[in-house]
Amino acid sequence: MRTSEARMRTVSSPAAMRRLSARWRARGLSVGFVPTMGALHRGHLSLVERARAENDRVVVSVFVNPTQFGPQEDFSRYPRPFRRDASLCRKAGADALYHPAPGVMYPPGFSTFVEIPDLSAPLCGRSRPGHFRGVATVVLKLLNQVSPDRLYLGEKDFQQLTVLRRMVRDLDLPVAVRGCRIHRERDGLAMSSRNAYLTPQERALAPRLRAALGLCAAAARRGSAPAAALGAGRRALRAIPGVRLEYLELVDPETLQPVRRLRGKMRLLTALRIGRTRLIDNIAIKV
Ligand code: PAJ
Repeated sequence: MRTSEARMRTVSSPAAMRRLSARWRARGLSVGFVPTMGALHRGHLSLVERARAENDRVVVSVFVNPTQFGPQEDFSRYPRPFRRDASLCRKAGADALYHPAPGVMYPPGFSTFVEIPDLSAPLCGRSRPGHFRGVATVVLKLLNQVSPDRLYLGEKDFQQLTVLRRMVRDLDLPVAVRGCRIHRERDGLAMSSRNAYLTPQERALAPRLRAALGLCAAAARRGSAPAAALGAGRRALRAIPGVRLEYLELVDPETLQPVRRLRGKMRLLTALRIGRTRLIDNIAIKV
């Protein structure tokens, strides 16, 4: 953590962001960038701290991106504790907090979108059509505005990380992508801004989620067939009261296609609902 906390700037227009970043780069300073939707927690801050350690300047964006929410999703109730976020960013050592207004990011007549169809269709793409198109579009815009050397993304949103790595590769974007490990609560629940929606009773189920994923991962590591390992995991998740399982899949970490044989690096991914809250999580598996 740095001592010069007072130096963080809040920037709200793309032009001002571009000017600030150009000034830094003209001085030969490297820029790390952490895009977020705010309601910051320790998971987000671990990305900011890593960016702080690896770059001369760090930009954190807070923008609740309307194009990545479906019509029935939580865009309007998504938490927006902006002053708290600003204070956390400052303490974590950010040099700039970029907070563009929705009308600035999406002016009337906006009609250009980025699509990465193969990687966006499976897993979360099934229940959230258009979600990754919105994510890719906003992240490309933010990259154009911030011009960072390094982009910090969490493995918590593993499909998002895979989609964005592919966008950067396919469009020759001059930025290095850094995937950062999942930050968890003591009982194993992956930190998320949406955890705030959980009632105390729902929150208390976290250890059982963790245990169900661990059971499946352990079966895969022991060499059970993928179908058997997934079957055990799905049964354990469905047995938790109030849980509606969306998917539990074992996939290749680059193509996101289901694995047929347990070999090399794989990723176990899940999405489920507890009451009104949708949670995602994943575990790396190597055999
Ligand atoms: P948001 O959900 O706010 O997450 C911002 C970044 O923090 C993402 O890269 C996410 O993977 C990471 N993150 C969240 N929880 C984490 C945890 N427990 N451990 C480690 N990293 C974690 O993801 C988005 O926002 C948006 O889709 C965005 C990329 C900003 C585009 O709008």
